[in-house]
Amino acid sequence: MSLTVVRHPVVARDLTVLRDRETPSAGFRAALERIATILAYHALDGLPLRETRVLTPITETTGHVLDTSVVVVPILRAGLGMVDAIVRFVPDARIGHLGMYRDKTTHQPVDYYANLPKGLAEATVLVTDPMLATGGSACDAIAYLKKAGARKIRFVCLIAAPEGVARLQAEHPDVPVLTAALDERLNEHAYIVPGLGDAGDRIFGTTD
Ligand code: PRP
Ligand code: URA
Repeated sequence: MSLTVVRHPVVARDLTVLRDRETPSAGFRAALERIATILAYHALDGLPLRETRVLTPITETTGHVLDTSVVVVPILRAGLGMVDAIVRFVPDARIGHLGMYRDKTTHQPVDYYANLPKGLAEATVLVTDPMLATGGSACDAIAYLKKAGARKIRFVCLIAAPEGVARLQAEHPDVPVLTAALDERLNEHAYIVPGLGDAGDRIFGTTD
C-alpha cells in the first residue's frame, strides 16, 4: 500500500484552523474545502488518459480526455465534506454513499446506508472520509466496494492515525492512501491525537 502525506504551506495553515477547538463550523467547512481541493488534485494524479483531436481557433491538434470513469464514495457523514472538491475537477463523476457510524463503546463501525452507482468495476473509485482512526470504517467501506465490483480504489482522508494506516495496509494493500497529516496515535476513546475531535460534529455543527 502506498501512503502519501501531502505537504503544502496552505495545507499546514488550514490543518491548524481545523485542529483549533475555537473554529466554528463555517470556518471549519471552508478550511476543509480548501484542503480537500489540494487533496483532490493529488488523488486524481495518474488517471489514464486517451488522446483525442481538438480544433483550436488556429489549427487541429492532439488533446486528452480521461480514460476512466470516476466514482466518489463519501463515508457518511463526514466524508461528504470532501466530495465537492473532487467533483469540481471531474464534473461527470458519479457519487455513491456509504453510511456508517462508530459504536460509542466498541468503536466498531455500524452500517446504516448504502447506495452505489453501477459500473464500479470499470471506474476509479475515490473513497473520502476526513478521519482514518482505527481504520474500521475505511476497511469495511472498501470491503463493501470490492464486493460490489470495485477494483481500482483510492482512499482520501484529512488526518490518519498510524493504527488506521497499519490496518488498511494489512487488509487492503492494493488501496493507496492520501492524507494531509499522519498524527501520533489514538487515545483510549479511539480518537486521533492530536486530531481535531469529531469531524462530523464539527462539519455539521452537531454535538453528542
Ligand atoms: C468518524 C469518521 C470516520 C470514522 C473513523 O465517523 O468520519 O468515518 O469515525 O473512525 P475509525 O477509523 O475508527 O472507523 P463517525 O462514526 O463519527 O460518524 P459521523 O461521520 O456520522 O460523525
Ligand atoms: N472519528 C472522528 O471524527 N475523529 C477521530 O478522532 C476519530 C474518529
